[in-house]
Amino acid sequence: MSDTQSTLLAPVCMEGEILENRQVTPVTWIMKIHAPDAAPRMRAGQFVNLATSVDIVPLLRRPMSIHRVVQHMGVATGFCVLYDVIGPGTRNLHAMKKGQRIGFIGPLGNSITVPDGATRAVLIAGGVGVGPIKFVAEALLAMGMRHITVAYGSRDSDHCVPVKEVAPDGCRVLVCTDDGSVGRKGFVTEFVTDEITRGRLTPNDYVFTCGPVAMFRAVRDLLLPHGIPAEAATEEYMGCGFGVCFGCPLRQRQPDGSVEYKLCCVDGCLFPLDTLVFEGDPA
Ligand SMILES: Cc1cc2nc3c(=O)[nH]c(=O)nc-3n(C[C@H](O)[C@H](O)[C@H](O)COP(=O)(O)OP(=O)(O)OC[C@H]3O[C@@H](n4cnc5c(N)ncnc54)[C@H](O)[C@@H]3O)c2cc1C
Ligand code: FES
Repeated sequence: MSDTQSTLLAPVCMEGEILENRQVTPVTWIMKIHAPDAAPRMRAGQFVNLATSVDIVPLLRRPMSIHRVVQHMGVATGFCVLYDVIGPGTRNLHAMKKGQRIGFIGPLGNSITVPDGATRAVLIAGGVGVGPIKFVAEALLAMGMRHITVAYGSRDSDHCVPVKEVAPDGCRVLVCTDDGSVGRKGFVTEFVTDEITRGRLTPNDYVFTCGPVAMFRAVRDLLLPHGIPAEAATEEYMGCGFGVCFGCPLRQRQPDGSVEYKLCCVDGCLFPLDTLVFEGDPA
């Protein structure tokens, strides 16, 4: 099973109408945008680069994973992004109202690739890395996959997105927080350890992960000894979002062992987790 890659399509600058901008935690919002021209081209794992102001500042658009594609009578008519309010761009986003128009470029980046024969998936999200999970889970369900586990960890109850926003019905959702205020107390990687120990996560399963680098590193260290591959949705700082500004480099190990710079926006943002070279890894 594999989803289509669409990196070869030229980026398109578009406008949509905000249908909804609602708060789901004290710091997290979900914006629904009517965009019938763009939505049918959106694939799980892709992102959009959103204009957060009509003013010159913030100059740069802000990249956001596609959280869901909105369907109306079986036709894709729009999309949602889920975002934490952390700085000027996302502050502007959360102040936007229903009926306003918003500029965006997208869909951008590659989309998920699920190995043929995979019947089970584990989706691992840390913090606002929960953004793309629902769309990925929906795509897997649409491919006929029936055993989907979402392991989601956040800091505390103020940052913990409600389960109904995290994944569609039909998924098993495991939640933890650093302080134990929601779900199990601990890190999301503990769920990964449990799944491996219980034989519910093997090299034949599909693994998708999105979150901070520390979590990527921990997930990689757990999966590698068992030969379990994973796709990581990386989130480097971005400018253009389509390969022009060279503002989003990351390092990737090549098959011959050398390390090359890649662009998060056009070579990703999805990469095989075990090929990524993080700060502090041996060169
Ligand atoms: C492909 C991609 C997908 C993303 N998807 C989502 C999403 O679904 N939901 C979401 O909330 N955020 C997502 N992000 C991160 C989001 O783009 C930033 O949070 C946003 O740009 C912050 O803008 P700001 O002006 O509010 O804050 P800024 O002032 O730009 O940043 C505020 C703080 O956040 C840090 N920061 C900003 N961007 C990043 C980043 N990319 N990685 C790590 N730290 C960062 C800064 O260092 C600063 O401390 C994604 C990023 C990428 C590259
Ligand atoms: S954001 Fe401009 S090249 Fe990637």
